Amino acid sequence: MEKQIVVSGIRSTGYLHLGNYFGAIQNYIKMQEEYNCYFFVADYHSLTTHPDPKELRPSVFRVLSENIASGLDPEKVALYAQSDVPEIPELYLMLNMLAYKGELEKVPTFKDKVRQHPDNVNAGLLTYPVLMAADILIHRAVKVPVGKDQEQHLEMARNFAQRFNSRYGEFFPEPQVFRFSDETVKIMSLDGNGKMSKSENINATIFLSDDDDTIRKKIMKAKTDSGPTEHNSVMPDYIQNLFVLMNAVSAPGITDTYRSAFNGCNIRYGDMKKQLAEDMVAFVGPIREKAAELYKDEDTLRKILKDGAEKARASSSVTIREARKLMGINY
Ligand code: ADP
Ligand code: TRP
Repeated sequence: MEKQIVVSGIRSTGYLHLGNYFGAIQNYIKMQEEYNCYFFVADYHSLTTHPDPKELRPSVFRVLSENIASGLDPEKVALYAQSDVPEIPELYLMLNMLAYKGELEKVPTFKDKVRQHPDNVNAGLLTYPVLMAADILIHRAVKVPVGKDQEQHLEMARNFAQRFNSRYGEFFPEPQVFRFSDETVKIMSLDGNGKMSKSENINATIFLSDDDDTIRKKIMKAKTDSGPTEHNSVMPDYIQNLFVLMNAVSAPGITDTYRSAFNGCNIRYGDMKKQLAEDMVAFVGPIREKAAELYKDEDTLRKILKDGAEKARASSSVTIREARKLMGINY
């Protein structure tokens, strides 16, 4: 059976952290085995906020290095930069004729940006969902692994696909949000406030680029309390989070030991954090080192981008050729 087509865009802002790793990258890595995956760095999208031109290459190379070091395999997936595939902006232009100002203005992420940056309400920001639809439809993808915040964008991609199909003939499948498992992993911030994130309390966020001592310090400072006083108490969410992390990085069985200690009211959080810190260091260390090594190897990264763009363009050029024909652009 033909493998289903999956597309996802990776933003190139900020360093990756454990939330990104366990919430997103780990799923990409599982998907690369079973699907025909197109993963790309959404560098054109990042232009909506006018980044310094000098910052673009370092941030694209970093996000590539960190994803590959985490296990994304450029041999198995097409890994490319959006700006290396000119068919994407071509389809974006076509879809723009099918996107209405009114609907674009109603998108919550657009309204947020307008509120946050009233001095930079550019047309690229307004048509962000159209470019995202082009990213997806260019490969005629059916599955798109994205977080909850992107669901509205995906619905717009389906609308544009439908409009194209009803005007020019059945061509684009309607892409659906894809979750690998029903259980969405959410990593909380180590201070117990909300989710781990690159923009909130960075001292309570573990980055894949953190050195061993930083990881140890952050974990030892993670929020705990004086422990349960009744057997089999309900776990507070910040304690639960330590168990989630331990389960992800420690040897099998270790979590059980601490869980029994919790249920028996004799858990020592200091010991648990020491154990977690060492296991986390052992987990993050090799990823950090591999990413740092790759980051320095610009030739390899350029080669990966080039090969990725080739794979992406092979699929994109077929779509554009057919779309042009359907629209009557074949003189
Ligand atoms: P951030 O919130 O740090 O800016 P992004 O919004 O760029 O992260 O998210 C990139 C991906 O990582 C998304 O798929 C998102 O669902 C996932 N992700 C981010 N933070 C977490 C978290 N704390 N727990 C689980 N998944 C997360
Ligand atoms: N908008 C997405 C985000 O902010 C990134 C993105 C761009 C994307 N194009 C995409 C995701 C296409 C999935 C498919 O995270």
